Amino acid sequence: MTREEAQKLVEEYKKAAFAYKKKAAEEEGQIRPLTPLTIEAREAKEDAYVKKGSALMEQGALGLVLLAGGMGTRLGFDGPKGTLNIGRTRELYIFECLFNNLQRQLEIASEHADQSTVDPTKVPVCIMTSDKNDAATRAFFKEHSYFGYGEENVYFFTQEMAPACDYEGNLLMEDEVTPATSPNGNGGWYPSMKKAGLTEELKKRGVKWLNVFGVDNVLAKIADPVFLGAVVSEGKTCGSKAVVKRSPEEKVGVMCMRDNHPAIVEYYELSREQAAQRNSDGGLTYGMGVILNYLFRMEDLDRIAGENMPVHLAEKKIPYMDAQGVFHKPQEPNGYKFEILITDLLSYMEDCLPYEVLRQEEFAPVKNKEGADSVESARELLEAAGVQL
Ligand code: UTP
Repeated sequence: MTREEAQKLVEEYKKAAFAYKKKAAEEEGQIRPLTPLTIEAREAKEDAYVKKGSALMEQGALGLVLLAGGMGTRLGFDGPKGTLNIGRTRELYIFECLFNNLQRQLEIASEHADQSTVDPTKVPVCIMTSDKNDAATRAFFKEHSYFGYGEENVYFFTQEMAPACDYEGNLLMEDEVTPATSPNGNGGWYPSMKKAGLTEELKKRGVKWLNVFGVDNVLAKIADPVFLGAVVSEGKTCGSKAVVKRSPEEKVGVMCMRDNHPAIVEYYELSREQAAQRNSDGGLTYGMGVILNYLFRMEDLDRIAGENMPVHLAEKKIPYMDAQGVFHKPQEPNGYKFEILITDLLSYMEDCLPYEVLRQEEFAPVKNKEGADSVESARELLEAAGVQL
């Protein structure tokens, strides 16, 4: 990216981000609850759901998209997050863990499929990387023989990069000629896939639904035939796995309806009253926290691929070179990065099924170096779920 291109983008993004902030503030509070498919309701229909989802997987209708373009700055690991070894007495990489989870679901789908087994040839995986980690990610997969999934069933594509600016809107530079850039958030994955020719490739393989998930939940249950079957059987065009919020204060985005579309509101967008509102059964009205595990139809994604999604401002510590040629590594946030977020995608969908799952079965995030949502907390959750480390 040249300095001129970056400067132009910064201007565009700034305008879009401030316009979005204003609109969001005006619309604040105009939300309605969205009824989830609870675990109890799902279990009552589990047989039909698993059959439906498995049949679709057998036909090759499901593809996976693994979002792994983030910088993982909070974790501070020197390499793509998926290449981190989280084993204790053996090697178990985050990517490997996800592929193990995937294989387990293919076995379940095979048990319930009509005629044949559901193997990797039927469920391709697309991995989104960024310029910063693409080469390392590809090399890692090659080195580990694609964890037995078959090179021909694993695709890679890179996401877009975005420039950054200081609080006055001045472009930040990495060196004399290179603008400081970073991945532009996890929301632009479909246009990036399209640009790489992958959407056409998937369609040729018969894919109609995409299960999209992040790299940092090591318990992510992906390619889950019950989830796919539930969304399709309930006549929905989109689905999102969700966990019940621990308390009104928990910092997680929750599912709701806004302007007659499904939406995810961030915890800081909810009023205190909304966050604490309860249903007659005592459950939180806005209590379904999202865990970055979605199902989308490709036809809907094609329809909206040209839309300008909201741009969010993220205040970050951005290393930069000043006009005197001195390089700075700030200890405090010094400017804005611009990000497009997958949580905004739901607002373009007609409907969405909030699909309740249990935290201990499906949610073990690896975000931080220590404490909550760290490697250690994820290890404990994995072990509790029966994974040998
Ligand atoms: P996060 O925002 O939690 O991860 O993204 P991050 O950006 O890697 O971490 P920090 O904030 O710097 O510590 C959730 C998921 O979205 C992906 C991440 O790889 C992760 O799977 N993501 C995030 C992208 O693919 N691209 C991005 O630009 C940002």
